[in-house]
Amino acid sequence: MRSHLLILLISLLILKSESINCNEKSHSSDLRVFHINSQCSPFKTSVSWADTLLQDKARFLYLSSLAGVTKSSVPIASGRGIVQSPTYIVRANIGTPAQAMLVALDTSNDAAWIPCSGCVGCSSSVLFDPSKSSSSRTLQCEAPQCKQAPNPSCTVSKSCGFNMTYGGSAIEAYLTQDTLTLATDVIPNYTFGCINKASGTSLPAQGLMGLGRGPLSLISQSQNLYQSTFSYCLPNSKSSNFSGSLRLGPKNQPIRIKTTPLLKNPRRSSLYYVNLVGIRVGNKIVDIPTSALAFDPATGAGTIFDSGTVYTRLVEPAYVAMRNEFRRRVKNANATSLGGFDTCYSGSVVFPSVTFMFAGMNVTLPPDNLLIHSSAGNLSCLAMAAAPTNVNSVLNVIASMQQQNHRVLIDVPNSRLGISRETCT
Ligand SMILES: *[C@@H]1O[C@H](CO)[C@@H](O)[C@H](O)[C@H]1NC(C)=O
Ligand SMILES: *[C@@H]1O[C@H](CO)[C@@H](O)[C@H](O)[C@H]1NC(C)=O
Ligand SMILES: *[C@@H]1O[C@H](CO)[C@@H](O)[C@H](O)[C@H]1NC(C)=O
Ligand SMILES: *[C@@H]1O[C@H](CO)[C@@H](O)[C@H](O)[C@H]1NC(C)=O
Ligand SMILES: *[C@@H]1O[C@H](CO)[C@@H](O)[C@H](O)[C@H]1NC(C)=O
Ligand SMILES: *[C@@H]1O[C@H](CO)[C@@H](O)[C@H](O)[C@H]1NC(C)=O
Repeated sequence: MRSHLLILLISLLILKSESINCNEKSHSSDLRVFHINSQCSPFKTSVSWADTLLQDKARFLYLSSLAGVTKSSVPIASGRGIVQSPTYIVRANIGTPAQAMLVALDTSNDAAWIPCSGCVGCSSSVLFDPSKSSSSRTLQCEAPQCKQAPNPSCTVSKSCGFNMTYGGSAIEAYLTQDTLTLATDVIPNYTFGCINKASGTSLPAQGLMGLGRGPLSLISQSQNLYQSTFSYCLPNSKSSNFSGSLRLGPKNQPIRIKTTPLLKNPRRSSLYYVNLVGIRVGNKIVDIPTSALAFDPATGAGTIFDSGTVYTRLVEPAYVAMRNEFRRRVKNANATSLGGFDTCYSGSVVFPSVTFMFAGMNVTLPPDNLLIHSSAGNLSCLAMAAAPTNVNSVLNVIASMQQQNHRVLIDVPNSRLGISRETCT
């Protein structure tokens, strides 16, 4: 059975790649992570830069709504061929025998959901078919997990249904349990949503795996196996080796790693908050009002690490202070704007370094994590932006562009988040 799946995947992937072995085996508890636009991804598109930016704004607004700072629903990024939000995918095997799905990673969500056969409005042709899995079980309304699902309700057949929005999209699903196999690890009775109806364009095609810290997430459900500990290294979209990884469990995690305390917001239980205390540009600590960085469980304010946002967003006073110092230090050149970025330079200029100062941990960004290069116009832009001003936003999001080629360790039992440089391209 395995070999059949392997052949299927190889033939799928061979279309997209010539010399690269996209299907190299994942090791125990260590999954390969692909960028959604890498040669190993069947979702690869030639999406334009501008569209990526548009999509990222929608993601930011969505996270702001999760943090509880926007009352209104999330605006929809206009639906012109925008790629699925979350940018990184891993292979998950679901059911008995296993059905392979390439699910998006999302560290800011708990629930997992997979498009299931019969889904109306799902964009994927790869659907999970529970009727072909001997270990599949639909959860009833009385199941304790039903209370943890977003907006749960009891369907006519007494199964646990739920509705949720994701970015600008909406799904209707019912709770299912089945065996989840990640690399060589088996998680029995894993609870996830089987999508039967979807609308919108921001849903990851083959589903999503929530790595948040709330009750329904993979992390909580695999407590015995992984002890709420994992790390990941996100590859750059352009890298050809694709050896990004998601390492689950306390085994083989880096020992020598800089860490900062993880903060817990009981009202936003999925999000990984940290304490950003300052930002240094070159050797100058920029003057940022403490209120712009302070953690406040009541309002959702503070700083989170997120794998699904593309570039870092800071609340306006923090961004403006950092950007002004950055511009001041770029000699003999004036900044121009491009798309969502307001600090771009053409040709070769010398850029200052930027350091995020977290409680107990300074992280200086290498140029690849700091600058985004536009193919059009030979521009290099500071790859961060202010939170959109049309929302009363209080959330700083450290995004994937700033995390690429770093190992990010989430260690919930010891309440810490670690970072070390690692080449995962
Ligand atoms: C989801 O929302 C739709 C529209 O409001 C409603 O008809 C449906 O019953 C809801 N389903 C669940 C499972 O809550
Ligand atoms: C999985 O669920 C089934 C059905 O409720 C139960 O019989 C079985 O013991 C569970 N397995 C594990 C490992 O929890
Ligand atoms: C890809 O990986 C191989 C073996 O690890 C290494 O020799 C090569 O330099 C890598 N290529 C790139 C472009 O990183
Ligand atoms: C930057 O803009 C100022 C004001 O418009 C101008 O005087 C200066 O020459 C410009 N510098 C460069 C390097 O273009
Ligand atoms: C981009 O700018 C650099 C530095 O000025 C220059 O060397 C390079 O030729 C430029 N590339 C293009 C495509 O204009
Ligand atoms: C971070 O950098 C600041 C300013 O340079 C310094 O005062 C502080 O001691 C550093 N913190 C750590 C944990 O290295």
